[in-house]
Amino acid sequence: MKRRQFLKICTTLATLSGLEAIRAREGFAVQETLAQAYPRARLVRSDGTALKSATLKPHTTYLFFYPYSTTPCFLLDLGETLKPQQVASPETGETYRWPGGAGPRRSIVAYSAICSHAFVHPDPETAMISYLREPSPLAERAETITCCVHGSVFDPKKGAAVLKPPAPFPLAAIQLEWDAKSDQLAAVGVRGKPVFHEFFKSFPKNEETHASEQTNVVELQHYTKLIITC
Ligand code: FES
Repeated sequence: MKRRQFLKICTTLATLSGLEAIRAREGFAVQETLAQAYPRARLVRSDGTALKSATLKPHTTYLFFYPYSTTPCFLLDLGETLKPQQVASPETGETYRWPGGAGPRRSIVAYSAICSHAFVHPDPETAMISYLREPSPLAERAETITCCVHGSVFDPKKGAAVLKPPAPFPLAAIQLEWDAKSDQLAAVGVRGKPVFHEFFKSFPKNEETHASEQTNVVELQHYTKLIITC
């Protein structure tokens, strides 16, 4: 590694540590060092009021847009403590640390809802990728995120690790902050390998503008007309 590259990485890490220190002083519990920081967005309901983690229904799929105003993400309370773990990319063998769940029980997770294979994502008409609580013919097990287009299956309890290909790597994890005092949640970054660049190239109608300071959370069934399961 060249000296200039090394110094740049050191500077970036120092900046991120500083960011965490500021957030910690503000009372936010930061889960881990951010892999890729994006502007912070508070999760709110469609009427603009803060989303409290206690109001999330377990195993219900919620949707919000982050870190861009057109990139959808799933939000799930999986109802049990989810510990940090290493997540591997089947394609490259690279691993990275997924920080586990957020919230009072560390049961809340968020992932990019853009499939890492061919960038399929929920839209107002259909959702070909979704969370399934019950076992499905494709997944053959409960509590998975499945993409019906080519049959990829992801494990939301393990950093959206790939259970079935052709997805080449896990869904990117959205870094969440949870404030114990207010019970509010915010998205602050992305961990893993996001496919935002490929998404904007494949679906050029979507604007590449960052999400605003707050992002609406809705149930997937209220966002899309048809959720396709397989
Ligand atoms: S687009 Fe999801 S499996 Fe191909």
